[in-house]
Order: sequence, then C-alpha cells, then structure tokens
Amino acid sequence: MEDHTNEPLYLYPIWIRLWHVLNALLCLTLIVTGLSIQFANPTITVRFNVAVVIHNIAGVLLSINYIIFFIGNLFTKNGAYYVIEVKGYFKRLKTQFHHYTVGVFRKEKAPFPVTPDSKFNPLQQISYVGVMYIIIPLVILSGLGLLYPEITVHSLLGISGLDYTDLLHLFCGFMVTLFLCIHVYFCTFGKTAISNFKSIVNGYH
Ligand code: HEM
Repeated sequence: MEDHTNEPLYLYPIWIRLWHVLNALLCLTLIVTGLSIQFANPTITVRFNVAVVIHNIAGVLLSINYIIFFIGNLFTKNGAYYVIEVKGYFKRLKTQFHHYTVGVFRKEKAPFPVTPDSKFNPLQQISYVGVMYIIIPLVILSGLGLLYPEITVHSLLGISGLDYTDLLHLFCGFMVTLFLCIHVYFCTFGKTAISNFKSIVNGYH
C-alpha cells in the first residue's frame, strides 16, 4: 500500500487494530495447533490432547472476535472499504497486478494511492473480502460442525458428513495459512518495508 501525500491519514480505528492483533495471534495459534493435530504422533497422546484443547479454545475466541469484526464493519464506515465497485473492477485489478509484478521494481507510482475514501487497492480489497467474508466464516462453521458432530449432515452419497466437514475445514485452514504468508509479504510493499506494520499499530497511514 503506497502513499504519495505526506499527510498522515487515520485509517485504522482502535477497534480494528485490537481485532486485528487478536485475529493474527489466534490464527497463528490455530495454524500451529492444527498442524500438530494433523501430523500428530499416535504414540504421544498427551501432546495431541493439549493441542486439541488449545485449538478448540482459540477457535471459539476467533469466532467471538469475528463477530466483533462483522458487526463493526456493519455499523462503522470501515465496512465501506470492503464494498467492491463491480464496474471496471477487473481492469483495476489488472493494473494493480501489473504494478506489483513490474511497476514496484521500476519504482513507479502506485496506481491506486491511499485516500480517506479508498484504503485498499483492488488486490487487497478482493483478498480481504475473500478471507473475511468467505474463508473465515467457512472455517468457523466447519469447525463448529467438527466440535458438535451431531449438527452435521449424517451422510451424503454414502460418505459421512463429518468427512466433508473435515475436508472443508482443512481446505479453509490451508487457505488462511496461504493468505497469511502472502498478506505479510505484500504488507512490506509500503513507503518503507515497515511503514504498513507501523500503521496497523498506531492507526495512521
Ligand atoms: C502475523 C500476522 C499478520 C500481520 C503482521 C499483519 C499485518 C497487517 C498490516 C500491516 C495491515 C495494514 C495494511 C493493510 O491495511 O493492508 C493489515 C491489515 C489487515 N489484515 Fe493483517 N496481518 C496479519 C494477520 C492477518 C490475518 C491472519 C488476517 C485474516 C485472516 C488479516 C487480515 C487483515 C485485514 C482484513 C486487514 C485490513 C483491516 C482493515 O483496515 O479493515 N491479517 N494486516
């Protein structure tokens, strides 16, 4: 996210910063414990059980934190940054993609500089909408289904509903992990490598 004005813009209100830090810590905890559950050594059951307990608690906390994000975006102006204007969107996405793959290395100006009305560039917008309104809700719902198997579909086409739920949960967990790696990398494309990280801490871009 590049900026070409010198005026600091207050773009990350305190509630979004608190949500974000908690969300990041919980996602990291869920990824580590999730991997440790998936690749558990069947002979070391204590470690497996501890990972399951931590994973379940972190999952519940992430869900509560997600509700805060959802309601916050519904009732504050932060939600407007997540509304994608469909007209001309793909052209804008292509321009941003070209900037990230070519322009950045030629030190070209950002095609969509940050303004009070537009905090995210088209690529950030689609990835934040995708992760926050599709992937995270799916990981939460499939996690709930695994925590309370009685609420999942009993069986479909001869395969247990729990197997589908598990597959969906694994897929979404993988997507969150992928998002996180790409997200942190792209956050280094600021005015300096650390300026975006400072913004999500002090609120000012
Ligand atoms: C170590 C973990 C993480 C770091 C260092 C990090 C870093 C950042 C930074 C620097 C920003 C501000 C730049 C921008 O707005 O693009 C940001 C915003 C954002 N991050 Fe992260 N992030 C992390 C984890 C996550 C995770 C796990 C998610 C979601 C699953 C996430 C979702 C978002 C969203 C939606 C925003 C925009 C918030 C808003 O202003 O409305 N981040 N992150």
